[in-house]
Amino acid sequence: MNEIPVSRNQILNVEIIDLINNGMGLVKIDGYSIFVKNALPLEKLKIKITEVKKTYALAETIEILKASPHRVILKCKIYDQCGGCNLQHLDYQYQLIMKTNFVKEQLLKISKLNVIVNDCIGMEDCWKYRSKTQVPFGVRNNKVIAGFYKENTHEIIDMDRCEIQDALADEIVNFMKTIAQKYKIPIYNELEHIGNLRHVIIRKAQVSNEYMVTLVTKEDKLKNEEKIISELINRFPQIKSIVQNINPKKTNTILGDYQKVLYGKEYIIDYIGDVKFAISSKSFYQVNPVQTKVLYDQVLKYANLTGNETIIDAYCGIGTRGLYLAKQAKAIYGVEIVSDAIKDARLNAKLNNFTNAYYEVGKAEEIIKKWQKEKIEADIIIVDPPRKGCDSSLLNTIKEMNIPRMIYVSCDPATLARDLKNLSDTFDIIEVQPVDMFPHTSHVECVVLMSRVKNEKLRNM
Ligand SMILES: C[S@@+](CC[C@H](N)C(=O)[O-])C[C@H]1O[C@@H](n2cnc3c(N)ncnc32)[C@H](O)[C@@H]1O
Repeated sequence: MNEIPVSRNQILNVEIIDLINNGMGLVKIDGYSIFVKNALPLEKLKIKITEVKKTYALAETIEILKASPHRVILKCKIYDQCGGCNLQHLDYQYQLIMKTNFVKEQLLKISKLNVIVNDCIGMEDCWKYRSKTQVPFGVRNNKVIAGFYKENTHEIIDMDRCEIQDALADEIVNFMKTIAQKYKIPIYNELEHIGNLRHVIIRKAQVSNEYMVTLVTKEDKLKNEEKIISELINRFPQIKSIVQNINPKKTNTILGDYQKVLYGKEYIIDYIGDVKFAISSKSFYQVNPVQTKVLYDQVLKYANLTGNETIIDAYCGIGTRGLYLAKQAKAIYGVEIVSDAIKDARLNAKLNNFTNAYYEVGKAEEIIKKWQKEKIEADIIIVDPPRKGCDSSLLNTIKEMNIPRMIYVSCDPATLARDLKNLSDTFDIIEVQPVDMFPHTSHVECVVLMSRVKNEKLRNM
């Protein structure tokens, strides 16, 4: 085996040859890869090696000797520590190009399919887009702090502003720090599993401008509960719901099983287009409401509805996307593994007076098999699985079911490519549309249109 050409703490002058998907620049020395944080292609940098492994090393940039024309001034004060926005140093138009290319590369490399990939659809205003804020509390020098964990650690970075989060949510977090200090609320210490206040989660309903604050505590009792509530609602009248979630376990999972409403409503109400949704503190809801509409409009376009279609909505969450289509469809059959989400989906259907939406709790791979046996004939199936993609048994059932059209919504191009390869013996892959749901990070979402028979009309949509 060749010798490793670098050592830890070594300082080197290098030129970056590529940008890889986690936002790091790539350097090669005798075929050995070095991944450099805060680096862009063709830049000349002074770097410091921070970690050495058998097949690669990690490094940080200590001086930019020649900058890329695509490098931009960082907005964020904690960029170096946080690691959340790993593409923030790259101009936004170039971020979109990078995401499009990444999807193309993954599809070609993993599925070996040469499919049409459109340019990634970005945001007009790519800041303050997140409608959900979720941060842990801690104590440093007797002061209450709150913020994200430092990259790859559980050390809290005390943060007063995150540039991709809603600005009022940041104000609520800062205010919570002040009142936790003022009322001497015991802050949770995860190492010793003592204290009480663990996390604050803030959700904003974009259209109605309603906010929900969830305080996660270790114990059921919350010291000075009434004072905290009154301080919060007096200062922020936009808060329409305060929930206490109790998580007594020594775990990294944020939410516990039990929760209660301390103030206001159990739900806040939001809209996507003219469809109304109730959001509870536990439900999965996309965190970028502006791009959610873009994503759903893309699905609507691919669905090309006439009013006569029966649609299966697999991995339906709280039903948002299926209900966005329901007005123009004959029937929606939704399936989702989380029973609370199905409860919300049914409530959401009711809120909109839709009587054509049916939901079942369970694994998509099992419930859709059952629907196949019950001879439910769908015209379109939409799948929107988590990062690990679809279960292969589900893909087999879909192939057997003779459904003319399939729309695959994916948050991971690698598992998407694997599943498309599997489906490509039965479906013609018409086109892939990447959508940027998370500007300044390397994540990319895709919507794929597939047809069981080759269909030129669809191809030209
Ligand atoms: C990426 S989310 C999509 C949610 C929803 N379609 C939306 O747009 O808000 C994936 C969903 O799949 C659910 N899920 C995970 N594994 C599942 C399975 N085997 N069967 C059904 N649902 C599953 C998760 O609970 C989650 O709600």
